[in-house]
Amino acid sequence: MEEVPNNNILIAPSILSADFTRLGEHIREAEAAGCDLIHIDVMDGRFVPNITMGPVVVEAVRRVTALPLDVHLMIVEPERHLSAFAAAGADRISVHIEASPNLHRALQTIRELGCGVGVAINPHTPASALSEIMPLLDVILVMTVNPGFGGQTFLPETLPKIRQLRAMAAASGRAMDIEVDGGINVETAAAVVEAGANVLIAGSAVFTSRYSVQEGVYALRQSPGN
Ligand code: DX5
Ligand code: ZN
Repeated sequence: MEEVPNNNILIAPSILSADFTRLGEHIREAEAAGCDLIHIDVMDGRFVPNITMGPVVVEAVRRVTALPLDVHLMIVEPERHLSAFAAAGADRISVHIEASPNLHRALQTIRELGCGVGVAINPHTPASALSEIMPLLDVILVMTVNPGFGGQTFLPETLPKIRQLRAMAAASGRAMDIEVDGGINVETAAAVVEAGANVLIAGSAVFTSRYSVQEGVYALRQSPGN
């Protein structure tokens, strides 16, 4: 398959869909395929119904790749665990706006820990909820499914919000990544990029038994240009 590089778009494979018996191998394949970040989904069985991984896994992933680690905390009281994830090797950390009553402080703490500062926003939360914290952000992670599981169907009603957040980011004058997470594949990538996303998080479209990691990444990279 021929690669058509699209340098403006970053690809962040979510290891949630990887084969955990060969996680290191899968991450090396993703790195060799030209991925830009490794996305790690942390779930606590409270903020979302599912339980996944914690700092121990982040620390293990840190040892097998030089790529930045993009840690997505789907947990209640995220402020209690920020330093553990930073110490484990997270490069950027996103906390959910819906999970943190003292969000401003949580974001300041992420900054003090030396990590990129991110906020994640669920499908039901309006873009305007982020207006007061825009000056603190490096990353906005827009959930394009309801968080909790890989392999769900993209929600097209999130597209206007991506557009709105891109406009808010531009107005803030800050360089900001807009990540999209959930149901991103060759069919949906073009629409989210057109709306203003520049980081494609993809789990089941990259780690699958249907094709190789390299084929999955190349297909995603080509799709926004189609
Ligand atoms: C869902 C997670 C996602 C998930 C994406 O709550 O935040 O990162 O792994 O999986 P796909 O790409 O399969 O929808
Ligand atoms: Zn995620």
